[in-house]
Amino acid sequence: MKEKLEQIRAHAIHAIENSENLEKLNEVRMDVLGKKGELTAVLKGMKDVAAEDRPKVGQWVNETRAVIETRLEEKKAAFEAEKLRARYESEKIDVTMPAVTCQCGRLHPVTQVRNQLIDIFSAMGFEIYEGTEIETDYYNFTALNTPQDHPARDMQDTFYLSPEFLLRTQTSAGQIHVMEAKKPPIKVVSPGKVFRSDDDATHSPMFTQMEGLVVDRGITLCDLKGMLDEFVQKIFGEGTKTRLRPSYFPFTEPSVEVDVSCFQCGGTGCKLCKGTGWIEVLGAGVVNHRVLEGCNIDTSEYSGFAFGIGIERIAMLKYGINNIKLLFESDLRVLEQIDD
Ligand code: PHE
Repeated sequence: MKEKLEQIRAHAIHAIENSENLEKLNEVRMDVLGKKGELTAVLKGMKDVAAEDRPKVGQWVNETRAVIETRLEEKKAAFEAEKLRARYESEKIDVTMPAVTCQCGRLHPVTQVRNQLIDIFSAMGFEIYEGTEIETDYYNFTALNTPQDHPARDMQDTFYLSPEFLLRTQTSAGQIHVMEAKKPPIKVVSPGKVFRSDDDATHSPMFTQMEGLVVDRGITLCDLKGMLDEFVQKIFGEGTKTRLRPSYFPFTEPSVEVDVSCFQCGGTGCKLCKGTGWIEVLGAGVVNHRVLEGCNIDTSEYSGFAFGIGIERIAMLKYGINNIKLLFESDLRVLEQIDD
């Protein structure tokens, strides 16, 4: 009996050592310790063993079983450790590897400023009107009190597409469309591209303006000034002041150039404001009664103000850009630095 058990044990241990995976190991377990296993068969045969030998034989069987079980467990643990090690190996990551950088898109500075202006004006109750880039001579000039041969046409070098059609030189053309379509009270801003045959460090043949128009009862230059005071603080920061200087536009009377106190030096004089403490930001004025009348608005009842902001100019001032070309060259090294 003892020999038989030893044989079973040796055989089992050999099988355990030679099993190459967990499944094989399980098969060995079943072959030896399972219901129909070799050792189980011995146990079943205990009834044939003489009563006085049973304790001893029982002990041998138990010892054999314990040895085999321990080996099985050890082998199982070795397989599991190996499996884990292989998994760690396959899932290993090198935390010192440089990360894959993700290029993030952002809005163009001109679009950023345009959106900021839209936010500010819509919070003040302005509606948004977007006109067309191709206009007729009538809307761009004649209806704005600038008839054919008016000397003020020289202020803007125009790209004509035909004697009648042109690329709008100013978003002011939108004023007429709005006043033709709508009766006062009117409170709109109109952003969009405009075109002029003009090209230097601060001028580009295509640029962006935002027109503003307010028409209602009792509107005066004071309303314009009050609104501008509010507006410049929102865009250039609190404490920014405005100053109006006399100017000329055919479609406003009186007309003004609007300066803001220099937001860089606070008005003491620096490079940005060329030592004057003031920076010119936009043109504006009280809507000329001829323009209102041309749109069938009763000037004994209504009056208005209008203003035109150059968006690139605001972007250049805000972000310290000294050449307008930088805004249109699409150089990511420049554009990536600007994200408000
Ligand atoms: N359209 C003018 C320009 O382009 C600006 C302006 C708009 C002035 C509205 C007065 C009123 O220069």
